[in-house]
Amino acid sequence: MPTVMTRSCSDCPYGTARVVGEGATGARLLILGEAPGADEVREGRPFRGRAGQNLDLLLVEAGVARDQVWVTNVVACRPFRLLDGTALARQVGNVNPSGAAMKACAQGLDAELEAVDPDAMVAVGVVSASRLYRKCVTLKDVNGRVGSYLAGDRTIPFLATYHPSPLSVNRAKGRRELIRAALERAWNLSPSDGQGHMEPP
Ligand code: URA
Repeated sequence: MPTVMTRSCSDCPYGTARVVGEGATGARLLILGEAPGADEVREGRPFRGRAGQNLDLLLVEAGVARDQVWVTNVVACRPFRLLDGTALARQVGNVNPSGAAMKACAQGLDAELEAVDPDAMVAVGVVSASRLYRKCVTLKDVNGRVGSYLAGDRTIPFLATYHPSPLSVNRAKGRRELIRAALERAWNLSPSDGQGHMEPP
């Protein structure tokens, strides 16, 4: 198992510098983020900057071995919004990945999940949660529930929780604890925990 994973894609509206998943060989837990931001593009690695620092701290607090974790994103390129319908004026920042970008990256992400083959996953943020549930969900509804995602011929159990970005963490009291608890719980899931939980509530 390589420690980084390439992602091939086409027809993507972003198509800029790809930030690919990385982590431990034989990782037990996979963290699925939404998309790289400025820090990630600068360093060419997922979950850097403040969101990455928060995530690292929460993993330690959850008792999760960092060298048993794989981190990746729903889309590999930094999202932007076209302000005038052309690529000349782009708005970056807190822009969610478009449906077209998620579709273009879908096959690559599925191949990555299959290759990493983790025991469990944590989707952080509503974009990642909806991607694993294959429909729009709200974190309020799915937080704390075990879902399962079919990757190849394997069903991988997952939990969805809030995003560790400072914006998200500071938004509500107790949110940080919810993320920590989800990481700890997912770390203790076994592959068989995913069976029979295919549908979101
Ligand atoms: N950095 C990432 O790699 N993913 C996110 O979802 C947020 C920040």
